[in-house]
Amino acid sequence: MAEENGKVKIVIDGKEVTCPRGAMLLHVARKAGIEIPTLCSHPAVAEYGACRICVVEVIDRRGRSRVTASCTYPVRDRIEVKTNSERVLRARRINLELLLARCPNNEKLREFARRLGVEGTRFKTQEEPTECILCGLCVRVCSEVVGANAIGFHGRGSYRGVGSPFLKDVGLCTGCGACAAVCPTGAIRIEDQDGVRYVRLWNTRVELARCPGCGRYFAPDRLLRQVQERVQVVDRALLELCPECRPRAYARRLLVGKGTLKGET
Ligand code: FES
Repeated sequence: MAEENGKVKIVIDGKEVTCPRGAMLLHVARKAGIEIPTLCSHPAVAEYGACRICVVEVIDRRGRSRVTASCTYPVRDRIEVKTNSERVLRARRINLELLLARCPNNEKLREFARRLGVEGTRFKTQEEPTECILCGLCVRVCSEVVGANAIGFHGRGSYRGVGSPFLKDVGLCTGCGACAAVCPTGAIRIEDQDGVRYVRLWNTRVELARCPGCGRYFAPDRLLRQVQERVQVVDRALLELCPECRPRAYARRLLVGKGTLKGET
């Protein structure tokens, strides 16, 4: 029996795997120790299926086969999956070549492509090359994790890109850097200069807060204010200190308040 108690039995690369019905194929494979390459998948956000690097071949119980993105494929029925068939590798290579045509100079993407056996692209490269593969990870993390909704897609075709509304600093971007942290190609760069953080891709300029303890700039002011608003229980004086000074100040406070630090005799 292939389906029992909300569980489904499938076969991936000849290995029998049981998973909850509705689980995404990419995660089922990873859990079973089968690696599938990805660019636009991240555990912190919902899958979007943009890069098409995670394609696999799915064969249903009638023997019909198709190549599909595994990160957005919910397993509902008994299927057989091939993650490295010739058909899959060909599709993956073509998708990579298309991304390389858009971002021919991006070293991270070129290195990733080399690892998958792709040295260049047979497609015409974009007239104005970019470093963004339009995977939307930055947009999703800004919306789903940070809750700022500061950036989105704009433009069409080869002019499509990601940025703040009208590429202006409208005060929504807190300069937290989550977008840069998840970007698979390093297209988003955060620069800190003389007490100011710049995200030049969408013309954002955020003042950095200076730690009253040690005097160094450590976090965007807008971000600290947002945290203060959202996390009511946080001691504001402690929050204004940098991560190095904060534990020391907290420990001092415990000493003053209770005579000894927690755990000390
Ligand atoms: Fe599945 Fe990008 S990881 S489409």
